[in-house]
Amino acid sequence: MDKNNINNLNENSSKNILVLGGSDGIGLAICNVYEKLGYNIHITSRAMNKYSSKFKFYSLDATKEESWQKFIKNLSNKNITFDIIINTIGILHDANNNAFPEKSIKGLNANFFMRNIEVNTLVSALCMKYLLGCISKTKNTIIAHLTARLGSISDNNIGGWISYRASKAAQHMVIKTSSLELIRNYNRLVVVGLHPGTVDTKLSKPFQKSAKKIFEPRESALKLTKVISNLEINDTGKVFDYAGKIIPY
Ligand SMILES: NC(=O)c1ccc[n+]([C@@H]2O[C@H](COP(=O)([O-])OP(=O)(O)OC[C@H]3O[C@@H](n4cnc5c(N)ncnc54)[C@H](OP(=O)(O)O)[C@@H]3O)[C@@H](O)[C@H]2O)c1
Repeated sequence: MDKNNINNLNENSSKNILVLGGSDGIGLAICNVYEKLGYNIHITSRAMNKYSSKFKFYSLDATKEESWQKFIKNLSNKNITFDIIINTIGILHDANNNAFPEKSIKGLNANFFMRNIEVNTLVSALCMKYLLGCISKTKNTIIAHLTARLGSISDNNIGGWISYRASKAAQHMVIKTSSLELIRNYNRLVVVGLHPGTVDTKLSKPFQKSAKKIFEPRESALKLTKVISNLEINDTGKVFDYAGKIIPY
């Protein structure tokens, strides 16, 4: 696969990127980086905010199939193909329902567990199902799902946060399984997971005290775009951190 050289503005001037969850957090920072690189930026969110109007905005509640169907219908009228799709949708806590990651198995709450699976795992699978119609079979395409090192089973040495960990490990299975299936018909498609590091967003706010290093969203976005620019076809199905190092499943 040719390198997706993000530093060449002329090459990229007509390229399209779709960022799911692009109106906030790491997603918004990624949009700002790719905007400077000359990409056409398309974003989804459940609701518009003051940042989303900068980009081509689509309403999407990504855990709901009916919402995907409407979104895809809207897109197909525009006949767009995406060169890069980045899924930044995820939860770690749910402040509205006072639900936080479990310190121990005794703290498990079935609703919160299912919410993690829905937002962190199911959305990735629905993204693969519905967005296949918006990618080219002949051009290099990247679909990257933001994930977390905590979803690595082999890297899990301390336990805790069982709902988040389980949902992110399952997300890795979605990435691996879809990559194996799709390479047969989309031989220029790379599907990966990307760990952004601990980043100063609303998702990580309550947990930042224990972090060794916290990135600003822009810093993480710049690192992730560099990792994306170095991806090659045989990277499909793998999970990388912000420095481009492989995270084992
Ligand atoms: N921040 C970190 O330290 C960190 C560390 C490791 C991994 N990550 C991963 O990076 C990704 C992005 O995180 P972030 O820090 O940018 O978080 P964020 O600022 O909270 O943004 C998360 C996005 O997820 C969407 N979302 C949240 N709850 C949803 C729900 N119930 N249904 C549908 N969409 C929902 C939101 O979309 P709306 O616009 O629709 O609200 C929002 O854009 C996540 O997958 C996270 O697990 C983050």
